[in-house]
Amino acid sequence: MTDAVVHITQQNFIASGAFCDCYRHPGIPEQCIKIQTDNKKASKKLKTDLNYYKKLHKTQSDLRYIADYLGTCQTNLGQGYVYECVLDSDGTVSKTLEHHLEHNSPKIELILEELLHLAVHLLNNRIIISDIHTKNILVQIVEGQPPKPVMVDGIGDRVFITIQNIFTAEVHAKIIRRWNRFINVLSEKHPELQPHIAEIYLGKKHIQT
Ligand SMILES: Nc1ncnc2c1ncn2[C@@H]1O[C@H](COP(=O)(O)OP(=O)(O)OP(=O)(O)O)[C@@H](O)[C@H]1O
Ligand SMILES: [Mg+2]
Repeated sequence: MTDAVVHITQQNFIASGAFCDCYRHPGIPEQCIKIQTDNKKASKKLKTDLNYYKKLHKTQSDLRYIADYLGTCQTNLGQGYVYECVLDSDGTVSKTLEHHLEHNSPKIELILEELLHLAVHLLNNRIIISDIHTKNILVQIVEGQPPKPVMVDGIGDRVFITIQNIFTAEVHAKIIRRWNRFINVLSEKHPELQPHIAEIYLGKKHIQT
């Protein structure tokens, strides 16, 4: 990345999580910059996240459902961490899955169907999910294409890389367990969306051999 200081303003603000504030890059609209909050655990989380991206890059993982990490930059708000920004075809930042669920999106049934494609992709590419919730998934709307869920956060393993992660069967089991826990939460929160939600649980049948 360049050495020039990137000047971020509140106009660039996209959203905040517990650990970082996310801004659209003022000069490169296809990128966003994350700045750590003062949360005590922010540094640890960032380190774990970046290590996981390093691993994904090293193994040349297929990141089509994940906003990629591009590097660091200096900003007026401190050190920035640059990612691909998830955008709709009209150029606006894609909305979160939470937004679509809370606003009774007319596309919600289709979005749920596409969520299963995301899950199957994570499973078969052995991409571990650590913190999956409805604000960590954006739904990219491109005209003429099905809505595409993209993970912007919550991949990797929060616990220290364990020996189990070397074994494919253990990794598959972990991804299935964590995904299905997320779907349970979704199901409790949105009973009106049954039986569509019931269709998007992961099982062994989704593992491609
Ligand atoms: N690549 C991206 N493209 C567009 N918007 C994004 C991107 N990454 C994050 N965002 C937005 O910024 C919000 C906060 O980012 P992020 O989830 O990385 O922060 P966090 O503090 O790590 O979150 P959490 O509280 O889940 O740990 C997201 O919920 C999303 O709305
Ligand atoms: Mg988040």
